Amino acid sequence: MDIFEKVAGNMGPLGQYADQGYGYFSFPKLEGDISNHMYFRGKPVLVWSLNNYLGLANHPEIRKADTAASEQFGLAAPMGARMMSGQTSYHQQLEQELAAFENKEAAYLLNFGYMGMVSIIDSMLDRHDVVVYDSESHACILDGLRLHIGKRFVFPHNDLEKFESQIKHARKVADLSGGGILVITEGVFGMPGDLGNLKGILQFKEKYGFRLLVDDAHGFGTMGSTGAGTSQEQNVMDGVDVYFGTFAKAMAGIGAFVASEKRIIKALTFKMRSQIYAKSLPLPMVVGSLKRLDMIRTHPELREKLWTIVNALQAGLREKGFDIGKTQSPVTPVFLQGGPIEATQVIADLRENFGIFCSVVIYPVVPKGVIMLRLIPTASHTLEDVSITINAFAEVRKNLDAGKYATGGIPALADKF
Ligand SMILES: Cc1ncc(COP(=O)(O)O)c(C=O)c1O
Repeated sequence: MDIFEKVAGNMGPLGQYADQGYGYFSFPKLEGDISNHMYFRGKPVLVWSLNNYLGLANHPEIRKADTAASEQFGLAAPMGARMMSGQTSYHQQLEQELAAFENKEAAYLLNFGYMGMVSIIDSMLDRHDVVVYDSESHACILDGLRLHIGKRFVFPHNDLEKFESQIKHARKVADLSGGGILVITEGVFGMPGDLGNLKGILQFKEKYGFRLLVDDAHGFGTMGSTGAGTSQEQNVMDGVDVYFGTFAKAMAGIGAFVASEKRIIKALTFKMRSQIYAKSLPLPMVVGSLKRLDMIRTHPELREKLWTIVNALQAGLREKGFDIGKTQSPVTPVFLQGGPIEATQVIADLRENFGIFCSVVIYPVVPKGVIMLRLIPTASHTLEDVSITINAFAEVRKNLDAGKYATGGIPALADKF
């Protein structure tokens, strides 16, 4: 078998509809300045699919800081990996400020959250150690676990009873192997928007003895009284042993960080292969992140505005009888009933006739027969955007219930790859 034949012949679960959906349902191009109103295929759309929670992406102060940093340093600097020639005082300053913000002793920057998480897991564990993790963990956690050759136990999403039975097994195995236990969960689960039950998990910490690693990609900057995240929201900042946040969402940048005790950050700094063998984060992003963090600290009104929009959107959808699941965060799923064809027609109708752009998720991410539309409210949305959207959703649901989307196949909207 020629490897090329095999690769081209199996597109994988996400690629199976590539020819029907490319450029429309997958890889759509949103154009114009990042905001609540952008362009899709030349038409204006109200956008609900950007993780620009605090509206920082195009905030004039951020644009100014990014431009000044790019002019001062260029995009190349620093050259090389941190360990070799890519270390700067700005990287260290950002780490100190992030650590202080998270009430931890130290922090370390990660070039991509995804690769960073893979390496955090890889660096912390050896074959004697045992992992207990939530079943809905993000791909970066699952890929980190692929590198783990010791035992692992999964518990059904946020199910504390099952968590306890798994941690009991983990304790037995770790006692036999002489290893330790790492529990991994998320702060905000990015698809359903519910929170990891950090407080609940931590009740068992003393009894079973483990360390807790939390991926708070969606919670950093959005949750908690100062935006320090889900651990702050649940009043368990000290109980979370290793805190992970990304710059790709509320910070509207790229890169990420991990925060913990100094001795752990020191070890990770010398062990995380995806960071050691990769170029340092470019200076404009580091300096731009210092500005973003400062904005999070000094402009609580951005978070308040975000939550005004979140509360209006979620309450409005609930009032109209929409099922938005168990969200406790800005992430707002809207569950409808229908198959893949109906899902594509719902999205096409929303985009073409109502000018609303949101993401859609179908089986296998959600159960068969469920269409999940996913809305991400931000501080740059308005209450008018909210009411336009809720009315449009009500119209689309009427059409769906009347069977209007059941026939006709997938709309012919795809681009050629
Ligand atoms: C829960 C979670 N963890 C990690 C990541 C990866 O972060 P990054 O975009 O910084 O690689 C994401 C982003 O999609 C995420 O949602």
